[in-house]
Amino acid sequence: MFTAELATVAYIAATILFVLSLGGLSNQTTALRGNLYGMIGMTLAVLATVLGPKVSMAGLPWVVGAMVVGGSIGMYAAKTVQMTQMPELVALMHSMVGLAAVLVGVATFIDPEASRSFVGAAKSIHEMEIYIGVFIGAITFSGSVIAFGKLSGRISGNPLLLPARHWLNLVGLLVVIWFGNAFMNAHSIPDGMTPLIIMTVVALLFGIHMVMAIGGADMPVVVSMLNSYSGWAAAATGFMLSNDLLIVVGALVGSSGAILSYIMCNAMNRSFISVIAGGFGTASANPAPAGGAAQPAGEVTPISSVETAELLREAKSVIIVPGYGMAVAQAQHTVYEITKYLREKGVNIRFGIHPVAGRMPGHMNVLLAEAKVPYDIVLEMDELNDDFPKTDVVMVIGANDIVNPGAQDDPTSPIAGMPVLEVWKAKTSIVMKRSMASGYAGVDNPLFYKDNNRMLFGDAKKMLDEVLLSLKT
Ligand code: TAP
Repeated sequence: MFTAELATVAYIAATILFVLSLGGLSNQTTALRGNLYGMIGMTLAVLATVLGPKVSMAGLPWVVGAMVVGGSIGMYAAKTVQMTQMPELVALMHSMVGLAAVLVGVATFIDPEASRSFVGAAKSIHEMEIYIGVFIGAITFSGSVIAFGKLSGRISGNPLLLPARHWLNLVGLLVVIWFGNAFMNAHSIPDGMTPLIIMTVVALLFGIHMVMAIGGADMPVVVSMLNSYSGWAAAATGFMLSNDLLIVVGALVGSSGAILSYIMCNAMNRSFISVIAGGFGTASANPAPAGGAAQPAGEVTPISSVETAELLREAKSVIIVPGYGMAVAQAQHTVYEITKYLREKGVNIRFGIHPVAGRMPGHMNVLLAEAKVPYDIVLEMDELNDDFPKTDVVMVIGANDIVNPGAQDDPTSPIAGMPVLEVWKAKTSIVMKRSMASGYAGVDNPLFYKDNNRMLFGDAKKMLDEVLLSLKT
């Protein structure tokens, strides 16, 4: 059993391990170690809490029971989830953090013992913590549920732009402040419940409205932003429960999520405020539904897998640009086999990774690491963009929006201004996809019609298997 002093020491050790974990996760070579630090830190934190002074012996079976049920569901989800469903799973997990903050907030407020233990200024601060914690938690919960719906295709990716939506948000905020005042001045628990419930409903609607108004192309920022919110919700829960570790960990998640959102905004040339306000970059003509058929704007030149293999065999330098389609096809292992073969033949082969390729931050890096592609040939967009003119062949594997020249040339495009990998500057580019369908942002891609571009139609895994066979025979 942990005494109060031992629990504090364990919390400090866990905090250090979490900081080391975040540091490790910032680089592929140290990511494994980072994960390990995180796991040890979390085990220590859970043990120190469950066996610590704040959990009575009578409450222990409940805590253990809940952990077994929650842990089993989590383990099952982690084992069965497809890599392509990861973003929606993450969104769903964020919603759980938000819901937990709301439930803890309400439970703390209606607990007569907890409210009696605070008087004067401490009572006001405690109530403010509850009000703000429930507010952040409710936004995180409903916003994450909508993000889950959008990412899994259950809800349309098109932004819902209500008339006077910014005014609606402002009115919502004023209502929250007004009822906050009523909550703080309530003399009894039942008196305080009405403003708390009204604020929770407004916050839930605010979360729904906020994410519904965000266009498909801006979803990457939303995912990392909700990640950040879930951290702040956890920190707020820490304040409500007077748990220092939860405050620190929540702040770590909240601030790292905010930094990631900022990086993603830069990567997409978006302003953070505009993304949150919603509807940014969607004023142009209606984009085609994501995954639907975009209007063909010219002639494309198809290529066969045998011809692709010939081009690769003759090339001295090759760049591979993977996108969401590589994840769908699970083609990363064949990509690695081709890479290995070409490297053995002396070809300079590298990977170009766009910050928002796929459907979650680091999506492509995870897949390539899983296939054992060496880290030193996996480069960021900025490290590689100047090299395309000196490259013989670029293979675009299931990527679309991140190689769309329209982002640079067409100011009316929904993705206008988003930095892209300039693959069309290479001697030859080969785009591998199944059809002429658009990508996530739902826009046509002028790259497909360029003279030096070839289209290799088919499932990426199947076509790459054929390319590998042709290379080897
Ligand atoms: P997308 O623009 O979505 O394009 C993916 C392409 O893959 C599609 O055009 C699709 O064409 C093709 N594809 C799908 N399944 C395939 C298969 N089995 N074999 C071969 N091709 C297949 O992907 P991207 O270029 O990676 O860009 C990412 C987009 O997602 C950006 O718009 C980004 O803003 C958005 N987004 C990113 C994130 C994060 S955090 N990364 C989160 C949410 C949204 P076919 O159907 O014709 O095969």
